[in-house]
Formats: sequence, structure tokens, C-alpha cells
Amino acid sequence: MNTPFSGKKILLGVTGSIACYKAADLASKLAQAGALVDVVLTEAATHFVSPLTFQSVTGRRAYVDADLWGSEGHVQHIALGHSANLLVIAPASANTLAKLAHGIADNLLTVSVLAASCPLVLAPAMDGGMYNHPATQANLALLEQRGALIAGPGEGHLASGLTGKGRMLEPAELMGYIRLALGRGGALSGRRVLVTAGGTQEPIDPVRAITNRSSGKQGFALAQAALDLGAQVTLVAGPADLPTPVGAQRVDVRTAAEMHQAVLAALPDCDVLLMAAAVADFRPTAPAENKIKKETGIPTIQLEKTPDILRDVAQVRQSTARPHVVVGFAAESEALLDNAERKLHEKRLDMIAANDIRAADAGFGVDTNRVILLHASGKVDNLPLISKAEVAAFILQRVVELLAGVAG
Ligand code: C5P
Repeated sequence: MNTPFSGKKILLGVTGSIACYKAADLASKLAQAGALVDVVLTEAATHFVSPLTFQSVTGRRAYVDADLWGSEGHVQHIALGHSANLLVIAPASANTLAKLAHGIADNLLTVSVLAASCPLVLAPAMDGGMYNHPATQANLALLEQRGALIAGPGEGHLASGLTGKGRMLEPAELMGYIRLALGRGGALSGRRVLVTAGGTQEPIDPVRAITNRSSGKQGFALAQAALDLGAQVTLVAGPADLPTPVGAQRVDVRTAAEMHQAVLAALPDCDVLLMAAAVADFRPTAPAENKIKKETGIPTIQLEKTPDILRDVAQVRQSTARPHVVVGFAAESEALLDNAERKLHEKRLDMIAANDIRAADAGFGVDTNRVILLHASGKVDNLPLISKAEVAAFILQRVVELLAGVAG
């Protein structure tokens, strides 16, 4: 499967911190995701971990300072930085951050950074005192101001035995930052994309709720796909046990009414709305204040309609012409295309993604989906069974085309 990392040349700088051992995992994850990973270790890093560790997981050479003075040293120091799509330094020690902030180039890694013009991701890792020192803070502020993406550090147990801020982020989270940096300048850069995901919970009493089986996976994948294209993403999520894609602004909601409010509040600025959430259509009219006791007999729960978010969006859109593109979702168990077609027109959508929730390998909960995209223009995209990430990437590609149509 093609990923945002596929074929990307990533130069991974590894500096002298005990978090070096996690850098090997990061290099492995990047290589597995399809990136071409060249590693440069500083002298201090080689005391913690060997170049062979990295070569073994990346299948490519790992460089050390001796390479700066070898027979190819005169080209190496420029070539590594020049050819990279992205530079990541993980772990980034206080010392290397200080050198980078001041343009010092006294080893292969710092020379390479100075020679590179690609985006830079820095994952600081150091003792809490070193991190909090005004010198380190000033260096980080300067590097950020120059465009570096600072990933972390996190809080927790430090090698010094103390607890505090200074831990390098875990490789899985760093992958999110790297992805974010790779997406910068993509087809949706400068665009604001609002995504809703997951189901809603409509309270019956303080402990019970009416909900549905939506996992949020498709919506979260859409948020990630929009980030991959450089968009600014707001993710309005119903209760979902999923990690927030790095870079997305997450707004957690519980009920359809809260989702309605969150979507309408974010709407004025947004270019695209992807309404993937499975919003409840009905809610208890008067949720009980206290837990309903079984001793009082079987309750009758009166239901009322929830606000239809997309209908209200359509109204706002009439007067503001925003969002430029609105995509809805139709999860159906019968008459899939008829129902999707009706919703496409009733809710005045540009596109609707229809999926048959009766299929075991598509729809709620699973990682795959089989979707038919109906366009307002009459065009139909009949997608095969693919991962939700691939469905998301396809939908975002169509969104880019629709936005180009609006501009044109
Ligand atoms: O009419 P139905 O609820 O089946 O339509 C599904 C689409 O409408 C989805 O995109 C869903 O997010 C959205 N929806 C909504 N407000 C509701 C219910 C669903 O915007 N109250």
C-alpha cells in the first residue's frame, strides 16, 4: 500500500541521549512505512547505539563523523542534506539543538542540517533541568521560529531518575509529526477541513445512553488524509477510543446536540466539511435525572428528533457560500443507493459516501470499507474493498478536485 512515507528520503539524525534506543524503532517504523532512511549518528550517539543497529533495520548505510573525513567526505556533507525530503533529529540533545540554533556545523549531522533546505523535525530528549534551562528554551524558540517542527518532549520518567518534561516522544507519535511535516505544502495547504467522526451518545439517565456501533475509524482516517495533504484539520469526535492524528485539533463531544453546536461554531472558517459521524437521529425527550431503577418497572422512553446537522449546514451555506465542499456519509442496511441519492439531494451535498453496513468486512468497527461515492454532478466512484485509510485518501483526492472546480 502506498503511504505518505513511500519513497520519501528521510535523513534521521541521532544524537547522544539514552533515547537513542528508541530511535532504532523509529528508523524501523519509517523503513517499514516505505521511507528511504539514511541515518547520521553523532559521536556521542555511537556510545549508546551502533550504526549497525540502524543499518540492520533500514537496509541502508548509517553514517558517522568518520565519513566526513573519508574519501567521499567532500560530497557527503552536502549530499545527505541536499537529497533529503525531510530531516528528523530524534533524539535531539540540548547540545545539538544549541548548535543548530547558532549555525554551528562541527560534525556530519550539523553540517548536513546546515546544507539542507527541506523541513526539519526535532524531537528533544534530555533531563528536565536541561530542557527548562533558558538557553535550551531560547534555542528551541529560535528553531521553531525558523520553521522547525518541535515534537515534544513528553513528561514522565527521566534517565536521571527524576520525573519531568524531557522524555523523547514515543516512535509511534513521532511518526505522526513526521507525517505532518511531509504533508506541509500539499494540495490542501492553507485550507481548513472540518471532520466529524464516531457515534453519539444520547443519555437515557446518568448511566445509560442510546448509541450506535460507529468506531470513528473512517472519520479519523479522513482527518489523517486531510493532514497528509497539508490541511488545517478540526476533528469533532464522538466518544472514540482512537489516538488523535498529530496536528488535528480535536473537539470531543458526546451528544448530537453537542456535535451540532461544535460543527456550526467551526463552520465559518472552514473550506471543507466531511460529515462522517454516525449522528443519532433520535434522543430521549427527557433524560432521567437519576438512574432509573428496575424496581419501578419497565420504563417507557419517549424519543424526539435530534437536529439534522447537515440540513443546518446547507442553510448556512446558502448565505455564506461556505464550506465550499460538503461530503456526507450514508450507512445503510437496505436500498443503499436510493437512500444515499436521496440524502445527497436533500442535504445539498457535493458528494456522499454510501456504504452497506450489512457486509462483515465493511462499515462499522472494521479497518476496511467498501464505499460508493455519489457526486452531485452525477459521477459515481465505485470503490473496491480497501482500507479505511485508502478510502479516506481517495475521498480527499476528490475533494481537491471539487475545490479546484469552485476556484475555477
Ligand atoms: O439522514 P442520515 O442521518 O442517514 O444521513 C447521514 C448523514 O447525515 C451523515 O453524513 C451524518 O453525519 C449526517 N447527519 C447529520 N445530522 C444528523 C444525523 C445525520 O448531519 N442528525
